[in-house]
Amino acid sequence: MKTMNELISKYNRPGPRYTSYPPVPFWKNQPDEASWISHIKTIYSASNGVDLYVHIPYCESLCYYCGCSRVITRNHDVEGEYLALVIREWELYQERLGFTPAVNSLHFGGGTPTFLSPENLEKLIKTLLVNKIDNFVGSIEIDPRTCQADHLRVLKENNISRLSLGIQDFDPIVQKAIHRDQSPQMVEGLVDKIRENGFASLNFDLIYGLPKQTLETISKTFEIVNRMKPDLIAFYSYAHLPERIKNQRLISEGDLPSAEKKRELYEHGKKLLIENGYIDVGIDHFALPSSYLYKAKISHNLHRNFMGYVDKKSPILIGLGPTSISDSSLSFIQNMKDIKDYKDKILHNCLPIEKGHTHSNKDLVIQDIILDLMCKGEVSLTSPKDIPYWNEIQAELDSFAQDGVVERSNDQLSISELGIGFVRNVAMCFDFHLREQTNSTKFSQTI
Ligand SMILES: C[S@@+](CC[C@H](N)C(=O)[O-])C[C@H]1O[C@@H](n2cnc3c(N)ncnc32)[C@H](O)[C@@H]1O
Ligand code: SF4
Repeated sequence: MKTMNELISKYNRPGPRYTSYPPVPFWKNQPDEASWISHIKTIYSASNGVDLYVHIPYCESLCYYCGCSRVITRNHDVEGEYLALVIREWELYQERLGFTPAVNSLHFGGGTPTFLSPENLEKLIKTLLVNKIDNFVGSIEIDPRTCQADHLRVLKENNISRLSLGIQDFDPIVQKAIHRDQSPQMVEGLVDKIRENGFASLNFDLIYGLPKQTLETISKTFEIVNRMKPDLIAFYSYAHLPERIKNQRLISEGDLPSAEKKRELYEHGKKLLIENGYIDVGIDHFALPSSYLYKAKISHNLHRNFMGYVDKKSPILIGLGPTSISDSSLSFIQNMKDIKDYKDKILHNCLPIEKGHTHSNKDLVIQDIILDLMCKGEVSLTSPKDIPYWNEIQAELDSFAQDGVVERSNDQLSISELGIGFVRNVAMCFDFHLREQTNSTKFSQTI
């Protein structure tokens, strides 16, 4: 059996995060607008409805580590035009489909959704939620620095009940190195107001592997986090891709931890989370037993989509706004990344599709396997003849088993306790697009 450090040096290599299969760089056979709409019509049912994702790209200040798609501005005049475009995009869908889809869930991501004024946020929510299904769920990503009491009122009154706060790290030296100044006192004040309003769920986003982080800074951050006790914690691995993401060049490489140190930061954070009552529910995600994600995990209802883990999922995801990704279960599309191109398409009454992928049968087989590994930590490999490169995969699984990363019995494959941090590597061995890769796509490191 290998030591953890040996496993890290063996398996720490670039790889997809598998929020979708196939990952975006491997997409091909883009559906045209008519096929895309016909895929949605084929899969749609009024009882399942659709999941909606709305991207709000604006932020007032740049965080140096940020890998999200966003535009930095302090000019709030942009809000009105942006709102009109997103609302028009939703109208285009309704016109093409010939009906108003029932909304199963609505998630606001960014950028910073609370960049919008409370009035604009409310207008948008009310426009999108004309037809929603009975047990609808609404969620939003919040930058604590831009969230006002009126935002909370609007969210509460309009059933957006799951809140996620971008925290990252509470240490002042780390905050300086990432250009994100937010005091624990300010966040604690906001959390008190969230609790007074009685929201259903509160998540904190934290990151390990940031510049200047040490075991001590992680300890202090978790001490503060534990005072507020959110029911969910996303503890993300910092994805550092300075060749592709220019703002990350503002981070001095010398301030970043080595791969071994980064793993220690993760292990230390994980230990503290477990001591504080959190349970590991999936890649990067920890939950209190009272949380909806933990309940979904134990009842085998955990799903994964482009936004991360969820407890309920429609077979159709429609993403509105630039860069947003949509999923019809038969195909994927991604919207124009550039806001000007996005606007141009909408103003010409076209869906703003930039790229897409139509699933083959092989894609769907591997998609199910990778989703099971990511959500359940195990999978039944009952039809090996449908799995491309099965001989090669078998040899690689044997090697994972020798390293103690997976356990195999008959057709059952499960990730071991030791292997939890290496799920992406196990998923990669099933990824036939990755095997057949001809371009040199850069993915983040798996550890
Ligand atoms: C859209 S942001 C959250 C909302 C809001 N913009 C904020 O920062 O508070 C989504 C999350 O992505 C994570 N994130 C951004 N860039 C990252 C990177 N390079 N590596 C890992 N996580 C990252 C952060 O944890 C961040 O909270
Ligand atoms: S981390 Fe959030 S607030 Fe910071 S730049 Fe990225 S999207 Fe904006």
